[in-house]
Amino acid sequence: MMVNHSRLKSQVMIATRRYNRTWECLIEFHALDNLLKIITGNPGTGKHTVARILARKLKLELIDVNKMSISKGATEKNGRVLEVDVRKLKRVLDKEIPDNALLVGHLAPYIISKSKIEIAVVLRRSPYSLEGVYKKRGYDKKKALENLGSEIIGITYYDTIKNIGRRKTFQFDTTNKSVYNTVKKIESLFVQGEAEEDNTDWLKIISEKGDLKRFFPY
Ligand SMILES: Nc1ncnc2c1ncn2[C@@H]1O[C@H](COP(=O)(O)OP(=O)(O)OP(=O)(O)O)[C@@H](O)[C@H]1O
Ligand SMILES: [Mg+2]
Repeated sequence: MMVNHSRLKSQVMIATRRYNRTWECLIEFHALDNLLKIITGNPGTGKHTVARILARKLKLELIDVNKMSISKGATEKNGRVLEVDVRKLKRVLDKEIPDNALLVGHLAPYIISKSKIEIAVVLRRSPYSLEGVYKKRGYDKKKALENLGSEIIGITYYDTIKNIGRRKTFQFDTTNKSVYNTVKKIESLFVQGEAEEDNTDWLKIISEKGDLKRFFPY
C-alpha cells in the first residue's frame, strides 16, 4: 500500500538519523524503495523542470522516457515526427528499469506495469497558460490544438488513473505556481506519502468563458 509504505519509509529515515544506526535501518529502507515514481503530464506542464530538481534532492536516478526510447531503438521516424513503439518500450523497461528511479515523460503511464509504480504525479496546466508555452516553443496550430485539447479533456490524468490506479495517482496544477512551490508539494508526497491534489476542471472554465470554439474549432 502506497501510503503506509511511504510513512514507514520516513519513519525508517528518522530512526536512522536519530540512532545513527546504520545497517538494519538502511537495509530496510532500501527494501522499501524498490518501486518507481513517475512524473507525467502533457508537453509544457513542467515535468522535466521539477523532475531534475527532485531527482537531485532525493537522490533518485532520473530516467527520461523520450531519451530512453531513442537509446533502446523504440522510436521510428514518420516524416518529421518521432513515433514511439510503446509496446516495445514497455517490454524493454519492464526488464531494465532500476530500483529507486524517477521516470519522467508524457508516455510514462503507458510503459510501466502498475505493480512497479509507487506514485504517479500528473502535472496539469491551464490551457490559457499552456498556449503561451506552445507559442514560445513555435508549435504549429495543429500540434498546439491537439495538445491543448488533450489537456482540457484530461486524457493523461484519466489514462494514468486507469493504468496505475486511483490511489497512486496525484495531480498538481502548475499554472501561476513557482517551480519551488511545485517541487515542495511533490517532495512532500514522495517523502510522506500525502498530498492534497489540485482541482483542474479546464472544460468548465473554458465553457464559462465562451472559449469552447477557440480550443475545439472542428
Ligand atoms: N510551477 C512550475 N513547475 C514547473 N515548471 C514551471 C512551473 N512554472 C513555470 N514553469 C515553466 O514551464 C516551462 C515548461 O516546463 P518543462 O519544459 O519542464 O515542461 P515539460 O512538461 O517537461 O515539457 P515536455 O513534455 O515538452 O518536455 C519551463 O519554462 C518552466 O520553467
Ligand atoms: Mg520536457
